[in-house]
Amino acid sequence: MSRPGRAPAETGEELSIAETIGLVSDAVAIFDRESRLVAVNSRFRETYRAVSAFLETGTSWPILLLEIERRGLLPGQVCDRLRLNESELLNRGLAAEPIELRGPGGASRIGMTSISTGGYAWVESATVDREGQAERQRETDLLMAKVLEACPASLTMFRIGDGQILYRTPAATELLGSARNTNEHFADRIERADFVTALLSSARVDDMRMQGRRADGRPFPASVSARVIDYRGEDVVVATIMDLTDDLEMQDELARQKDLTFQSEKMSALGELLAGVAHELNNPLSIVVGNAMILKEEIRDDRRAMRIEKLANAAERCVGIVRTFLAMARENPLELAPIDIAGLIGTARDTFLAGASDAPLDLTFDVAARLPSVLADEVQVVQVLVNLMTNAQQALAETGRHGLVSVSARLGKTRDRVVISVRDDGPGVPLDLRTRIFDPLFTTKTGGRGTGMGLALCRRILLAHGGSIRLLDSAGPGAEFELEIPVAEAPERRS
Ligand SMILES: Nc1ncnc2c1ncn2[C@@H]1O[C@H](COP(=O)(O)OP(=O)(O)OP(=O)(O)O)[C@@H](O)[C@H]1O
Ligand SMILES: [Mg+2]
Repeated sequence: MSRPGRAPAETGEELSIAETIGLVSDAVAIFDRESRLVAVNSRFRETYRAVSAFLETGTSWPILLLEIERRGLLPGQVCDRLRLNESELLNRGLAAEPIELRGPGGASRIGMTSISTGGYAWVESATVDREGQAERQRETDLLMAKVLEACPASLTMFRIGDGQILYRTPAATELLGSARNTNEHFADRIERADFVTALLSSARVDDMRMQGRRADGRPFPASVSARVIDYRGEDVVVATIMDLTDDLEMQDELARQKDLTFQSEKMSALGELLAGVAHELNNPLSIVVGNAMILKEEIRDDRRAMRIEKLANAAERCVGIVRTFLAMARENPLELAPIDIAGLIGTARDTFLAGASDAPLDLTFDVAARLPSVLADEVQVVQVLVNLMTNAQQALAETGRHGLVSVSARLGKTRDRVVISVRDDGPGVPLDLRTRIFDPLFTTKTGGRGTGMGLALCRRILLAHGGSIRLLDSAGPGAEFELEIPVAEAPERRS
């Protein structure tokens, strides 16, 4: 040990103390019997780095402790206890109980022991802070509980063996209800079996498509991902189930929009082509028609007159076709105005009846009372209705029996559209043709009886109105077309 006035490092004995404490993992400081610092090890230096200037041999205990306290390295109470312990040690040779410390960096214990040289050692060792650990565990548990409560994903945890649910987030309860077994979450038993098989073989499943079952029992399109984990010695599955209803609807809508864009591009390319052809055909056709009329008047011979008549009829049909093509190509600008639905349907009926053939047909009309006006180009929408009624009549004519065509109008669910339906009890549209009937030039009518432009034109007119037209998937016989036309005034402004 050092003696007063001599540097401790001058003797071999003191050097060996420094060496010895250097081997220890605890923080150790050695003081002589005059309470002066003899040596500290590197761990002590590290712990009390903030007072490193005072960790020199010869620094007196009260000064070192004062600096440690001043810089907040140890709380005042602890420093007081250390002072007390030191004087007990020196004066009465009594070693006090070690002082337990708990701080953010962990727990430790400071013991003071007298040593054979007459001085004493400060030994500070890290301890396990059980109380702190328990508290941290409680905090972690609380955090986990909060995270899972707020977790927007539908997450469940269940035993792989029997499907018994151990935990589920509130979001899962909302989507899937509070069934006790995960089997209830699957609407299809085979899909459930596939899911379990996949889990058993690779302990994970990613984005498997399935039909889930909602809390109210309704099935819904879903995607399930899962992992098998070990929980308290058991194989447990943690799974998330995602409701894909909205995503799929959006995909369908995108596909529909894409199809519409494709159709309208096709129409405009076709329009340009048709405009040119129709324009060129118009002049020679008018010569054919004009001359046929003159010949009809001049020729008295019945047989020849019949031939001329056939010629004239065919030429008239060609004129009709050319006119349709030109109408398609011209893209008549819309003349929108608020139109009364009952009036519009009345005009369509009159126009249809004026041009209709004598095929046996019952026409019924059912227009809901107090329908709001639609914002429409009356001439064009009448054209659409006449086209649909003509198609219905032609379809019925093929059956050779008395048919029924009903036209009805009502307000749409969202109240911002009027829905008009044109329905017949004819043969209907075969399943494999349903996606094609709105294509330009698609027709099943042979012998030049159809151009296949009617429905394409109808669709174009309705899209220009911000409306729509579709063939309903009706199970029964006949075909039903449904049109939607925006109302003239927003629903909230109507009383
Ligand atoms: N009410 C209906 N019942 C059964 N099939 C229909 C009906 N309406 C349309 N179709 C089918 O859709 C096809 C296309 O109709 P679209 O009106 O576009 O052309 P088209 O009637 O054949 O010819 P166009 O109208 O140009 O004279 C028809 O050929 C027919 O096969
Ligand atoms: Mg038609």
